Order: sequence, then structure tokens, then C-alpha cells
Amino acid sequence: MVQAIRHDQSAADVQLQRFGLQLTGRDSLPGTANNRKVVDSMQKVEEQFRQAQRYLAGGVSSSTRVNQALNHPLFFERAQGCRVWDLDGREYIDLCCSHGATLLGHGDAGVRAAVEEVLQTGAACSYESSLHTELARLLCETIPCLERVRFTGSGTEATMHTLRLARAYTGKKKFIRFEGNFHGYHDQVMFGSSGEPGQNQPQLSAQSAGVPEELAEHIIQLPYNQPELLEAAVRHHASDLAAVICEPVFYNAGCVLPTNEFANALRQVTSQYEVLLIFDEVLSAFRMGPGGAQEHLGVTPDLCTLGKAVGGGYPLSVFGGRAEIMQHLMPSGDCQHSGTYNAHPVPVAASLAALKAYRQPGFYQHIHRLADRLYGELSEIFQRHRVDGSVQGLGARFGIYFGVHGQVRDFSDAQKHNRQRMLEFIALAIQNGVYFHDYGGVACHHGFCAATTDSDVEEALERLDSAVAELAERESN
Ligand SMILES: Cc1ncc(COP(=O)(O)O)c(C=O)c1O
Repeated sequence: MVQAIRHDQSAADVQLQRFGLQLTGRDSLPGTANNRKVVDSMQKVEEQFRQAQRYLAGGVSSSTRVNQALNHPLFFERAQGCRVWDLDGREYIDLCCSHGATLLGHGDAGVRAAVEEVLQTGAACSYESSLHTELARLLCETIPCLERVRFTGSGTEATMHTLRLARAYTGKKKFIRFEGNFHGYHDQVMFGSSGEPGQNQPQLSAQSAGVPEELAEHIIQLPYNQPELLEAAVRHHASDLAAVICEPVFYNAGCVLPTNEFANALRQVTSQYEVLLIFDEVLSAFRMGPGGAQEHLGVTPDLCTLGKAVGGGYPLSVFGGRAEIMQHLMPSGDCQHSGTYNAHPVPVAASLAALKAYRQPGFYQHIHRLADRLYGELSEIFQRHRVDGSVQGLGARFGIYFGVHGQVRDFSDAQKHNRQRMLEFIALAIQNGVYFHDYGGVACHHGFCAATTDSDVEEALERLDSAVAELAERESN
């Protein structure tokens, strides 16, 4: 998520981001000072933030948790279904949904019952149980590329282990990644170019202090959705190239779909040159169908990662793929993957309950019906108020773009989006009772959960109509 912030920022902002996003005095960020006036009566939230800053570094547990449209994080006291309540008692329809982790909604009864049941057994951690096998079987039956899996705790760990495994299996070091695609916070992937977007194989620099710049020599970065550049790069680097890693639906730039030519080239050229294809489905898995983006696109990678929704709101991630590759993990192979808290029984039980829900008949019909209505009517609201906003979505996640004309097809298009207007929109949405996370105002992903009903969508749209009307009024002044 943070990755998308960097390209259109001033040097000062990039510097701030390198140190984990500044939490106070962010008036240099577009829109922040104005937005402060819009959102009032958050006394308890603001007081809590002051307290938090005394003990938590920067006042947060995760650098990006400050909502820059507010200049502080929101502190929530309670959550149920598609709604959250802050410390000041304000209620919001949640269109962040834990950055995609709570696809079933907050406090889902099935997940909760599974967690309570496993707690009754003692929830012995760091041991295997029959639940682990059952979850692994269900995943292999649901996601096309999975023949064997391993569990980890976060999306970051999943991509880290997958890249290590790809290198161990192929004996090669380099990998191709795509501009703006986000793969977590470990040292191997925290690189981007600071130049103009859209460049072929630009010079990369680390996106955080503390990441050794030398790691960039193993990364080849290409623009998304350009099959000819991909084919040429794979052909050229094949002898050193372990893998191509990508977001198969590029939600970290809102919602950018791969063209058919690009999706087919990913599979075809990697197979031809014996390079592994990795789909990072940390965000896309379960979003539009049980088999994730790979099922939706009809393209089966060699390896994939799953995160967020796979844990049903609890910390679990997965990596896996062809058995022949997965055999290279210790103890059958020589590639290390281990961890005390890997596959703790609580998230494993939560994940089993979540997967069972995703596989229920009608689950995705409900998601797609709500998606059509929410995305379609929000677009109409923008038009009606003559605000230059647009919406692109697939399944339960979507992007909002301001000031971008036509379809967003890659990161360069997404960069044209107006960050200031986004922050103003988010502040007004929050004021009107709809919660969005800000991601620095850049084009990024938002989403709803399956607990949302038709009348919740209607209510969200009414609230957003008021927010957009206020945005239009501000623009006309
Ligand atoms: C595609 C993708 N990969 C990896 C990650 C990192 O996941 P986590 O935040 O669980 O470490 C994210 C997080 O947004 C993501 O969207």
C-alpha cells in the first residue's frame, strides 16, 4: 500500500515516507489542513492519539495506520458486520474492511464460533493438528495452482518465502516485478523508481531507510500491461531469472485489470524460458470468486501467495503451488521456512470457517450484485454533482480516481489521479459516516464485506451523496 505513495510526492514527502510516515504536522500533505476543519467532534479519538504517541512509536502499531485525511488514526471501539464505531461514539459504514482482511465482515458469527471452539481445546501453538491438514486440503481444492501449501502470518512473509523458494528451486537470483505492484514490506521488494512512471527497467531505489540498495540489482521492474516489454525482458534475462511476480489484479492502484494479452503472456513466456510465475494474491484471493484472480483470468501460476481474506480477519497467510516446487522446502528440501507462530490454531480455525463461507452457494452472487450497485451508483453520484470522480472495481474491492479521464490501465494512468481531492473526499465521507482509509490520497483499494445488505449499500450511497455534494460545493467556491 505504501508503495503507491512515492511517485508523485515531493522529495520531503518521500523522505517522510522512508521513515514510516510522519504522524503529526502533516499540513504539507495536500488537503490535510482543510480536512481538519471538516471533521470535528473527535475529542476522545484525538486524546487517545496523544496518549498513544507517548508509548507507541509515532502513536501507531503500523506506519500507514494514520489516516492522512484526518491527520490521525481513527480509534475504533467496536465493530459489527459492515459497521465500526469510534471512541466518540460515531458510527461508520466501513469501506476499508481491514484493508481487505474482513471479507465476511467484523465479528462474523461462524468465524467467532470456530475460534471459541479451538480456544476450548487449549489452542496449542507451534504444533500440527488435524485442522492444519483440513485447511490445506480445502485450499488445494479451491485455488487452481495449489497442490501443496505452507502457512505464514502475513502477506509480507508469504511473498518473502515464495521468492526465496523460487530462487532455491531455479538456482537463479533475479526476479521481474511490475511498477506500482505491492508485495509487502520485506527488503527484497521495497524498491521502486523515483523517475517518471511508465519506464522500462528503470533504476530502482530503496523505499525505506535500512534496506540495502544492492538488493536492487536482483530486480527488473517493468510497466504493467505491456506484454511485449515482458517478453523481451524474460528472453533477455532468462539465464539469471528465477521468477516473475505480479498482482494478477492490480488492486494496489485501485483496480486495474490485466489485459488478456498481458495475462496470457505472463504464463506463456515464463513457461517458455523456465522461469517461475508467481501470483501475489494476498489481496485478490477470494475477492471475486473462490479460486481468486487465477481462476477468474484462467491463468494458473506456478506459485501463489494468499493473505488478508484467507484468515477471515485473523493473521494467516499462505504460499503454495506445484508439489514439485514445494518439495524444495525443508525438511524434504533445502529451502528454509519455519516460525514459532506459523499457523497458530486460532487463525487456522478462523480461516477454515471463512473458507467454508466463501464456498457457500450464492456467496459471490451476493458480492457481485452489491458491487454492481455500489460502483455503478457511486459513479452516478459523481456525475450528478459534476465531480470528476470515477470508480473501477472487481468483486468486493474497488478504486476511486479523481481527475483521470477514461479507463485506468496501468500505474502511469493511476498516477494522474488527484490526491488532494481524494483526501478531501475521504474526510467528507468520514464526516458523513462512511469510513475509507486514505493511503496518502493515492489511487488505492477500498472495499465492502459480505455482511453488507442491500439497505446498507443504500445507506452508504446516501451518505456518500452528501459527501460528494459537499465536495462539489467546495470545488465551486
Ligand atoms: C498484493 C499484496 N501483497 C502483499 C501485501 C503485504 O501484506 P501484509 O500487509 O499482510 O504484510 C499486501 C498488503 O496490502 C498486498 O496488497
